Amino acid sequence: MERIRYGIIGMGNQGRHYAASLFEAGLCDDAALTAICDVDEKKLAAAGAALPKQAPARFTDHKALIESGLADAVIVAVPHYGHPAISIDALNAGIHVICEKPAGVYAKAVREMNEAAERSGAGFTMMFNQRTNCLYRRMREIIRDGGIGELQRVTWIITDWYRNQFYYDSSSWRATWAGEGGGVLINQCPHQLDLLQWVVGEQPASVRGFCGYGRWHRIETEDEVTAYLTYKNGATGVFVTTTGESPGTNRFEVSGTRGRLVCENGVLQYDKNREDSLAFSAAATTMFARPGCDRIPVETDGKNPQHAGIINNFTAYLLKREPLFVDGREGIRGVELMNAIELSGWLKGEEIALPADEDRYLAELDRHNLTSRLRETKCEAVADMSATFGSAKK
Ligand SMILES: NC(=O)c1ccc[n+]([C@@H]2O[C@H](COP(=O)([O-])OP(=O)(O)OC[C@H]3O[C@@H](n4cnc5c(N)ncnc54)[C@H](O)[C@@H]3O)[C@@H](O)[C@H]2O)c1
Repeated sequence: MERIRYGIIGMGNQGRHYAASLFEAGLCDDAALTAICDVDEKKLAAAGAALPKQAPARFTDHKALIESGLADAVIVAVPHYGHPAISIDALNAGIHVICEKPAGVYAKAVREMNEAAERSGAGFTMMFNQRTNCLYRRMREIIRDGGIGELQRVTWIITDWYRNQFYYDSSSWRATWAGEGGGVLINQCPHQLDLLQWVVGEQPASVRGFCGYGRWHRIETEDEVTAYLTYKNGATGVFVTTTGESPGTNRFEVSGTRGRLVCENGVLQYDKNREDSLAFSAAATTMFARPGCDRIPVETDGKNPQHAGIINNFTAYLLKREPLFVDGREGIRGVELMNAIELSGWLKGEEIALPADEDRYLAELDRHNLTSRLRETKCEAVADMSATFGSAKK
C-alpha cells in the first residue's frame, strides 16, 4: 500500500518523541519517517542513531529537507517562533504540514501561514492532540446540541503545569520573550486555549489578563495568569494557570441555563436542569424554589489517541481523503486568545476585544524583545515527553 513519507523538523524532546515512540514503534499507520532535521548536529546524530528501523536521511537545514524530494509531509517541532516561517516554506513547496502547537507566537505570522496554506492547497493540520480526548469531544457535542442551554459561565483552572527551575534552564529559548515569545500561556496552555473555544463553540468577545512575570521562577515571562473572559451574550469566565503550583488543579467547567459540564480527574460530569433556569426563575411563585436537576451518565467512545491520532488522521486524509480532524487554519484562534491575554497583562489588565490589534501586539512584543536575553543552558537535558502531556489524558 502507498505510504506517506514524513520528515520531522526539530529533533528536540518532542521531535524525538514522535520519531522514536510513534514512527519507530510502528504506531503511525501507512506512514514512514524518511527524513529528520535539526540545526544542532549533535542532536541530529543522536536522534538518527536511535532510529535503526526507519533510518531517515539527516539534514541540518529545513529547506534542504523540503527540497530533497524525500518527504511528502513534515512535522514542524522547532521552538515557537519558527512554526509559521518553516511551515510556510514547506507549504510553498507543496509539502503537507503538521505544525506543532502553538501555531505561532503572534497572530500576524499565523495569518500569513494560513494564507500560504490556502494558496498552496497542500494538507495542513495542527498538533492539537488534546482535541482527540473523548471527554473534550463529548463536551463539545453536548454544548453544540444545546445540552447546557444558553452559555452563562466558563471556568478553567489549569494549575497542574508545575515546572521546576531545571526545566527552564534546559533550553536557551525557554521562558524568554525573544526565544519563546511568552511563558505558561504559550508553552503549556496552547491546548487549553484551543479547547476553550473549540469545546464552547465560540471565542470570548474580550479578555482582561493579570499576569505574574517570573513570579515563581528565575524567568522573564509569565508563570502565573488569571484572565477574565466576557462572551458576546454577556456570559463571563475565568482562565487560571501557573507553572508554580503543585499539586495544582485541572478543572474545566461550562455552565448554562440548562445545566453544567465539569471535566476533572479524567471524568466528565453532566448535570442537566429539568427546566431552563431563567424560565423557571420568571415563573417561580415561592422564594427558594429552584429547578430540579439530574446527573446524566455521559457515554463516550472511550478513545484518546493523542499525537498518534493526529498523525494517523492526517495520513488518512492525505491518502484516502478521510475527513481532516483539525483544520490547521484553526490554530490562529488560540494564538489570538493568548495574544489578547498577554497584551492585557502588559497593559495592567486593560480590557482587550478579540481579535487584538495585530500591529499593537507586535509592537509590545518587540518592546519586550529589546531587553530579552536567551538563557544560559546549564544542561543538555533529554526528557521523556510522555510524562509531560498534562493531566487531561484519560
Ligand atoms: N503537542 C504536544 O503535546 C507538545 C509537547 C511538548 C512540546 N511541544 C512543542 O514542540 C516544540 C518543540 O519543543 P521541544 O520541547 O521539543 O523543544 P526542544 O528545545 O527540546 O527542541 C527544539 C529543537 O528544534 C531545533 N531547532 C531550532 N531551530 C531549528 C530550525 N530552524 N531547524 C531545525 N531545527 C531547529 C533545536 O536545535 C532543538 O533540537 C515546541 O513548539 C513545543 O510547544 C508540543
